[in-house]
Amino acid sequence: MDLTKFVKKIRKTGARWLLLVLPLFIAWLMSGADVSLDPKVEFDEETLQCLECHGAMRYTLVDPETGDTVSMKMYEELRIDPNVYAKATHGSFSCIDCHSPDFETHPHPVSVKFEPNFECIDCHGPDEKYADFNFETIEEEYSISVHGNHYIENFSCWSCHNPHTYKNTARQSESITEIVAYNNSMCLGCHGDISHYEVLIERQLTNMLSKHDWLPNQSLHFRKVRCIDCHAAVHEDILVAHQVLPANQAVRNCVDCHSTNSILMGSLYKHQVVEKRSKSGFFNAAITNQAYIIGANRNYYFNVFSVVIFGLVLAAIAVHATLRYISYRRQHGKK
Ligand code: HEC
Ligand code: HEC
Ligand code: HEC
Ligand code: HEC
Ligand code: HEC
Ligand code: HEC
Ligand code: HEC
Repeated sequence: MDLTKFVKKIRKTGARWLLLVLPLFIAWLMSGADVSLDPKVEFDEETLQCLECHGAMRYTLVDPETGDTVSMKMYEELRIDPNVYAKATHGSFSCIDCHSPDFETHPHPVSVKFEPNFECIDCHGPDEKYADFNFETIEEEYSISVHGNHYIENFSCWSCHNPHTYKNTARQSESITEIVAYNNSMCLGCHGDISHYEVLIERQLTNMLSKHDWLPNQSLHFRKVRCIDCHAAVHEDILVAHQVLPANQAVRNCVDCHSTNSILMGSLYKHQVVEKRSKSGFFNAAITNQAYIIGANRNYYFNVFSVVIFGLVLAAIAVHATLRYISYRRQHGKK
């Protein structure tokens, strides 16, 4: 149908405000429509070979001399979930992009155990493409953190960034809850799992819950803020703070977060604040920042409620407009 005719008709029916609301509604729909699906990753031949053993509960070992086969258990620590791997940040890699091609022989020769692992900086060092991430600054911050400043044997960037599962979430996700959950799981992988902690340090793992029982509504806080928001020093050039401080320097003051100039604006909400600024202009972001008090004037249910109300209003308008349009046509005998 001709657009101008359509617009004229709507005007005649008196449902003029539909002209205003409709584009808004479409814009609202489109604002949520840019959710991209994970690309389906195909594994190459070599990777499939590795995953035949490392992606399975059991694998088959063949005696090259007799041809006998035996079914063996794959140790849990050496197992890689192919689906999780495929979705990880480095999931498009072949295993031997990082591991020696000598791993194609099995049982693996002893020599491969002496090959050093890549470090993040080996690939991400001077690359313009990653300048925005500031790998060098992250490395400096890590080196003076509790995990990096004194020698915990075998502790490295990979200790938190599991090479086979790490997925950049801070920049990819729109959901603060998801970012917090993922981030905290990286810490709790050790601080909540004695087997991972004790391979690094012979010390009793302290109980996270009782160490934080001064915090009211602990489970809510652990879902809404990241460990690093209390435990790491903010550095303005990096998005995710990497200088984890000794526990006695952690944030304990409620007002540090529960105030108009909350520290969270420069940490947890940093990305959102910057994005908002570039999307809707500084003015808008500045207003939302200053009017925002954590735990005081944002309510999830209220947001959902307002969206529902908005939907209902639109539906009512649509029905109303249709009825008027029909009656208009009837009256003018155009049926
Ligand atoms: C026939 C089964 C099998 C295949 C195929 C296989 N692996 Fe393994 N892999 C094992 C077993 C069993 C171990 C543990 C014993 C060992 O370390 O040799 C292991 C250990 C490893 C380790 C840990 C070494 C260490 O001690 O930290 C790495 C890394 C590894 N494999 C990588 C690979 C890669 C990469 C491929 C593919 C190119 C591959 N594997 C193919 C069975 C296999
Ligand atoms: C981005 C680089 C990278 C890719 C890709 C990669 N790995 Fe690894 N992998 C590592 C690093 C680094 C370590 C050592 C981790 C550490 O020290 O904490 C490791 C450790 C391992 C281990 C030993 C785990 C352990 O806890 O001791 C196995 C087994 C393994 N890799 C198999 C694979 C297989 C199979 C693939 C392909 C499906 C693969 N890796 C792909 C970097 C990679
Ligand atoms: C063997 C080289 C190699 C190593 C080692 C490596 N990376 Fe990467 N990394 C890459 C490549 C290549 C990409 C781009 C992958 C793609 O686009 O599919 C990438 C992507 C990333 C991204 C996402 C970048 C973006 O534009 O969204 C992050 C974050 C990242 N790596 C962090 C790390 C960290 C942290 C480490 C160390 C724990 C590390 N990488 C180690 C090669 C590497
Ligand atoms: C104590 C745990 C820990 C260690 C050690 C660690 N990281 Fe991270 N890193 C994190 C967490 C948590 C995130 C945020 C993950 C997310 O939500 O995307 C992160 C994110 C990153 C990012 C992405 C930041 C962005 O702007 O999106 C890079 C790059 C990175 N780390 C590099 C490194 C390098 C390089 C090292 C070693 C020098 C290192 N990390 C060591 C916990 C750690
Ligand atoms: C790979 C295991 C591992 C991961 C992952 C890990 N840590 Fe640790 N962390 C340790 C170990 C081991 C120590 C003990 C070091 C010491 O006391 O010398 C430690 C020490 C600490 C301390 C100092 C405690 C004190 O008594 O002062 C804090 C705070 C801390 N970690 C927070 C975090 C946070 C936040 C994260 C996530 C960003 C994280 N850790 C991730 C293993 C881990
Ligand atoms: C609201 C701020 C806050 C949050 C969120 C928080 N912590 Fe803490 N944490 C603290 C404070 C303050 C202490 C010091 C408690 C004390 O000294 O009794 C502490 C203590 C610790 C300790 C030292 C325990 C010991 O052995 O004495 C570790 C390790 C730790 N936290 C890790 C974490 C991890 C992991 C998370 C995320 C799951 C987390 N914290 C979340 C504030 C926080
Ligand atoms: C690291 C920042 C941080 C610190 C420190 C902190 N909080 Fe919170 N607090 C939050 C966030 C974020 C929420 C969740 C707000 C939301 O979802 O809107 C929250 C929620 C709450 C709630 C629930 C509010 C509601 O809407 O249901 C209470 C009560 C609360 N905090 C009290 C405290 C007290 C008391 C302290 C000090 C002992 C404290 N908080 C320290 C960040 C923090």
